[in-house]
Amino acid sequence: MLKSTFQTLTWLEENRSLRLLDQRYLPTEELFFECRSLRQVAEAIKTLAVRGAPAIGVAAAYGVVIGVQEATTVENSITTQKFSAIIDELAATRPTAVNLFWALARMKKVGEGGLKKGLDGTQLRDLLLTEAHRIYAEDDQAHRRLGEYGAKLIPTGARILTHCNAGALACAEYGTALGVIRAAQTAGKNVKIYADETRPLLQGSRLTTWELLKEKIPVTLICDNMAAHCMAKGMIDLVIVGADRIAANGDTANKIGTYSVALAAKAHNLPFYIAAPTSTIDFSLAEGSAIPIEERDPDEVRFFGKKQTAPSEVAVYNPAFDVTPAALISAIITEKGIFTPAELSAARESTLKVES
Ligand code: MRU
Repeated sequence: MLKSTFQTLTWLEENRSLRLLDQRYLPTEELFFECRSLRQVAEAIKTLAVRGAPAIGVAAAYGVVIGVQEATTVENSITTQKFSAIIDELAATRPTAVNLFWALARMKKVGEGGLKKGLDGTQLRDLLLTEAHRIYAEDDQAHRRLGEYGAKLIPTGARILTHCNAGALACAEYGTALGVIRAAQTAGKNVKIYADETRPLLQGSRLTTWELLKEKIPVTLICDNMAAHCMAKGMIDLVIVGADRIAANGDTANKIGTYSVALAAKAHNLPFYIAAPTSTIDFSLAEGSAIPIEERDPDEVRFFGKKQTAPSEVAVYNPAFDVTPAALISAIITEKGIFTPAELSAARESTLKVES
């Protein structure tokens, strides 16, 4: 099985810290950001040093451990209020990816259970660290499993378009959309990838191409506005992207621009797949219009990387995500199987027992 050749998140027990491959500097520099404080973990998530729905969830889980370590250095105990404040600080970092709230809910449940039992600070921290490691391991396993399911949908020699980065950089290790691609390549399918640049923060050109080149999977970079043209020219066989939050009806929030790609795929009669773990499904929301969409700093649009490309005073609208309606989605690939959006709700009580 093709394993990623780099480590996105690493817990360093000797330093009691979380080491992140700092994605703000890729692809030109491979630098690490070592988070030793709760504030640093929150900043890393907000500023996209670590990004991608599953990776944000894993980072936040370790952030809770770091927060408890910090709060218990003087006195070896923590109040329920202080523990809740740690969870709240991490929950306030980014609003769209539900994996963040899913992971924090797990950490909260374990932490509150420990507090009720009267654990001291050290015992609580150890209990939370075990849960964070479990979230990391489950994330990795889920993506390897969904990769295997998804690979069955990929014809030999397929030319696949992807948007943003839904790879090992966005997860504990393996990737969702790129996990399917990794699994297809391992199965000898000889795929070729087209990566959308993904304005404004260029996750496609900076991260997806970097990751695929490392794995020796053939990749061609295109600007976002070239996707429909490539489809019209018969250069694309299917589209796979990741997800930040999937509503109960299958409407899916993902990186801004995903919706346009889905519309273009529909117009050209191409399959459009979402690859995501079940922790990305939010059954509490009936449809995509209820998904909170993050709006980011206007300068991300006024600048292209470090170069200013628009007047400083121009008004800017900068939503980080959009919602692709379920009607445009051919199937959702999860670690528990492949579902059409229509099958999702029905599977909720059977195949898709989602922990919340
Ligand atoms: O703003 P980002 O870089 O965190 O956005 C990431 C995406 O939109 C990914 O496609 C999504 O989180 C899935 S990652 C497996």
